[in-house]
Amino acid sequence: MLRKTALITGASGGIGLDLAVLAARDGFDCVLVARDEKKLQELQGVLERRYHIKAYPIPADLSEAGSVSSILQELERQELTVDLLFNNAGFATSGRFAEIDPTEELNEIQVNVVALTELTKRLLPGMLERGFGRILNVASIAAYMPGPYMSVYYATKAYVLSFSEALASELKGSGVSVTCLVPGPTDTQFFDRAGISLPFSHMPSHIVAFAGYLGTLKGKRVVIPGAGNMATVALSRLLPRRLLTEIAGRLQEPKEETMDAELALVD
Ligand SMILES: NC(=O)c1ccc[n+]([C@@H]2O[C@H](COP(=O)([O-])OP(=O)(O)OC[C@H]3O[C@@H](n4cnc5c(N)ncnc54)[C@H](OP(=O)(O)O)[C@@H]3O)[C@@H](O)[C@H]2O)c1
Repeated sequence: MLRKTALITGASGGIGLDLAVLAARDGFDCVLVARDEKKLQELQGVLERRYHIKAYPIPADLSEAGSVSSILQELERQELTVDLLFNNAGFATSGRFAEIDPTEELNEIQVNVVALTELTKRLLPGMLERGFGRILNVASIAAYMPGPYMSVYYATKAYVLSFSEALASELKGSGVSVTCLVPGPTDTQFFDRAGISLPFSHMPSHIVAFAGYLGTLKGKRVVIPGAGNMATVALSRLLPRRLLTEIAGRLQEPKEETMDAELALVD
């Protein structure tokens, strides 16, 4: 029997690397996508040795407009079809919207939204033809609220959640399911890369990945790992949106600004 293939974006670290390990452990061949070619090759070696599957590193910068087309060309060249798509790659910018480098924020939209949508769009027809497919899109609890000082990131994740739920409904009964993973703070490189410190309460990446992976295989629509994250999402539905926005803003306000505000109060 032909082995099924999983494509994982952001497989060079964090949640994506853990998703790749889970897929390989279950006997799926793995297409590994991220920018860091060396890390992808190392992971290829580990997965092939440990799990006796085939892994295919495809280095790509998803912030570049033609990157998805290049990935698809490479899949075609290697005669690979994708049965499981893990749209996991993503990153955040933080700070005042007016002050953040515009290129960085456009790249963020390109990676978190455009590449995820394009990969889904281009790989879905094949899945529908074969009558089988599993798609996982990684959102965040940020999807449930506006996030001052990380406004673009929160908005990209709201898109991912809305898009995933709508597509899951459209695909009912087709053999292809769409799952949206909604992590809260998770111990990965994410916070370092966003220039913010890891919150005190966070989950290990492999537990978050496992919840998302299982949910994907089962065809669940939304997976929120951890009681704390479920409580945050529940609260976000109860609070008036303006209050929710103010609370998120207060928690994320850059430190200097909080101090300035406190000093002004003392004056
Ligand atoms: N950690 C959290 O607290 C948290 C919470 C909620 C949601 N999430 C979401 O979870 C997903 C995975 O993040 P993580 O926590 O595992 O963070 P991470 O450790 O920083 O991993 C991010 C992955 O995305 C890849 N990536 C980033 N920019 C890319 C680009 N331009 N092109 C291709 N690949 C790119 C990175 O690989 P290269 O650098 O090699 O390209 C890396 O493999 C993201 O969508 C994130 O928004 C994370």
